[in-house]
Amino acid sequence: MTEGRKRVYTAIQPTNNLTIGNYAGTITRWQSLQRDYDCIFAVANMHAITVRQEPAELRQRTLSLVALYLACGVDPEKTVVYVQSHVPCHAELCWALNAFTYVGEMERMTQFKDKSAKHADNINMGLMDYPVLMAADILLYGSDFVPVGEDQRQHLEIARDIAVRFNNLFSPTFTVPEGLFGKVGAKINDLQEPTKKMSKSCENPNGSVFLTDGKDEIMRKFKRAVTDSEACVRFDPASKPGVSNLLSIYSVFADKTIEEAEKQFQGVGYGEFKLAVGEAVADKITPIREEQTRLLSDKGYLESVMKDGAERAYGIARRTLSKVYKKIGFYQI
Ligand code: TYM
Repeated sequence: MTEGRKRVYTAIQPTNNLTIGNYAGTITRWQSLQRDYDCIFAVANMHAITVRQEPAELRQRTLSLVALYLACGVDPEKTVVYVQSHVPCHAELCWALNAFTYVGEMERMTQFKDKSAKHADNINMGLMDYPVLMAADILLYGSDFVPVGEDQRQHLEIARDIAVRFNNLFSPTFTVPEGLFGKVGAKINDLQEPTKKMSKSCENPNGSVFLTDGKDEIMRKFKRAVTDSEACVRFDPASKPGVSNLLSIYSVFADKTIEEAEKQFQGVGYGEFKLAVGEAVADKITPIREEQTRLLSDKGYLESVMKDGAERAYGIARRTLSKVYKKIGFYQI
């Protein structure tokens, strides 16, 4: 990490298969961010256990996610790539920040309410504390910018509130982070229910396109995507959610603006339009999937990346944690 350079931090949970929403919301911007900033990209396996996971699967998905980061062009020489549980400071700072976060704030979190409804038999403390752990992740590294999708906006606001509160109570300690939301792609919706966020754990398998899907499957899902009866490719999320969502996807995966895409598909029928969107997605993710598979055959290399990343991350995180411990009055030896 270079002194004085702005820092970017983000993380993804190794739960289920990643969707093109995860790619569009954050990963698509990583390569250019890596050029301009010091980046730290984590695998958030501690967040993952707030809903039940099959242990062997969680382990495998953690490794796969590291491979995916590299396959998407993250350079582990430049960027710190690590697994959250390998750096104990996350749990430690989370505990300290818990004492500066109110129960009411956590109860108001939309994601907590949604997940509590979805997992009514397992409303555990971790699920409620999730945003505080996320704040700890971000604040440990003095992060200036956090590239995430729209669904994480509220969590980012809480991280900022906690940072400001702590800084005001003690003295300036934490950098107050800013969210980086993509102009397009910050919220990719379900192909079958285009007013609902595309998610890793959707009930309708045709609604989400996964980064592990093969070309045939991708094309099949796009052919079935819900549109409307107007027969005009135009961006208007309120009255044309399906078509607008497809335009957003195309814009991210074909690297074009919405206006360029609208122009390109003027007078084109929905059938042809949907095929073009599917092609753009397949063209982008097929080489990534192939590279991920190649990397996964070299577990030794992936483990060396994780180990090096954890050491570099720990070096930064430990310094922040020591500052916090000193300010809150923990006796240091
Ligand atoms: P997770 O694993 O749910 O999602 C990873 C990233 O993908 C974005 N995303 C989407 N973007 C656009 N459209 C969608 N349909 C869509 N679905 C998901 C998410 O906004 C996110 O950027 N809490 C985080 C992980 C995390 C984190 C952090 C992020 C843990 N600690 C610190 C930033 C900083 C999460 O659950 O992401």
